[in-house]
Amino acid sequence: MNKEYLISLEQKYGSPLYVYDAEKIISQYKRLENAFSGVNNLKINYATKALSNISILKLIKSLNGNLDCVSIQEVQLGLEAGFTPDQLCFTPSGVSMTELDHAVSLGAKITLDSLSVLEEFGSKYPNIPVSIRINPHIMAGGNKKISVGHVSSKFGISKEHMPDVLEIIKQTGTRIDGVHMHTGSDILDIDVFVRGAEVLFEIARNFNDLDFIDFGGGFKVAYKEEDPSTDIEEFGKIMSDRFNEFCKDYGKDLAIEFEPGKLLVSECGYFLAKVNVVKPNTNTIFAGIDSGLNHLLRPMYYDAYHHIDNISNPLGNEKKYTVVGYICETDTFAKHRPIAEIRQGDVLSFKNAGAYCFSMASNYNSRCRPAEVMVYKNKDYLIRERETFDDLLKHQIEVNLDL
Ligand code: LLP
Repeated sequence: MNKEYLISLEQKYGSPLYVYDAEKIISQYKRLENAFSGVNNLKINYATKALSNISILKLIKSLNGNLDCVSIQEVQLGLEAGFTPDQLCFTPSGVSMTELDHAVSLGAKITLDSLSVLEEFGSKYPNIPVSIRINPHIMAGGNKKISVGHVSSKFGISKEHMPDVLEIIKQTGTRIDGVHMHTGSDILDIDVFVRGAEVLFEIARNFNDLDFIDFGGGFKVAYKEEDPSTDIEEFGKIMSDRFNEFCKDYGKDLAIEFEPGKLLVSECGYFLAKVNVVKPNTNTIFAGIDSGLNHLLRPMYYDAYHHIDNISNPLGNEKKYTVVGYICETDTFAKHRPIAEIRQGDVLSFKNAGAYCFSMASNYNSRCRPAEVMVYKNKDYLIRERETFDDLLKHQIEVNLDL
């Protein structure tokens, strides 16, 4: 998105601000769809958690996507956005039976990820088919926190526990309608996905009446210009052939499902923040912005790289800045990063601010969360108002203790 336009949005809506380019989401969605044009039944279940604004969900709906939901609230958001219950795939981990009951009452499709829950759920709802999330014992992902398919991960039913699964479904009469996995996020290598797929194919052969296989999300996108990203087109070719071959062997045309988050929404997002202070210290020039880890946690939590442009002074001489937030603990967005000269009042733009940015924001330090704007065909739409002080107070109850 061009810098002048971003500046005009900051002037119109204030700072800090999240801006999403709807056309980028559409093109990424179509890219994945085209890559799998060789299969009969592709389902794209957008990982709601990446960016859950209802207008973004509606956009996914108009592209004919489904939603992958990990909380009952994400299921409810999906219904609000107009999805039908069968378009909502509820794939939680470690939730209570009460939450599963709720999902059943709303009609969402359910994926279970532990043996005990499979048993309890199956005894309670023998007529509701479910899918199971498999832990394929594969270590993959951009960092440890987001690697979730390895043997020590809390997620999924170990691929080695199939005899137990079979015993449980024999007892309860549950039909397994799908098998599922999600190995991690930020995975570059096609090989990792294919290896995971082979594990799932093996598992799938245990069940004779599946409707789908869900291979999760996790595709890597570029955060730096020179970063490699998952070759979706190549993956589509290899995986479609292998999937079609499996279906032929299995004797049924199954749906192939994916749950991309970052692939669809990471690159659509820009986070705009204003520089409050430029502070040269002994060996570092700090640029302090009107935001912090409360609004964009990824750099602090994962050491994630987000490219930063000074859109107020793009032609300024580059200097090395350490960009920091206003939170009362260390919240560094970038260390000694070459950026066009920064002056007080300049607006910085952070790239890749679509996935896991607003959705991981908080009110830490009693700060309000930013507004969100969606842009489509050069028109901007406010899709979330900036929070106000009243929002911070909204659910608090004042108690005056009589001391
Ligand atoms: N499916 C399941 C079951 C998931 O748990 C996730 C992400 C996805 C799909 C989508 O993964 P993606 O395509 O976006 O990589 N907050 C971290 C990422 C955590 C991902 C959690 N699960 C980050 O900002 O890097």
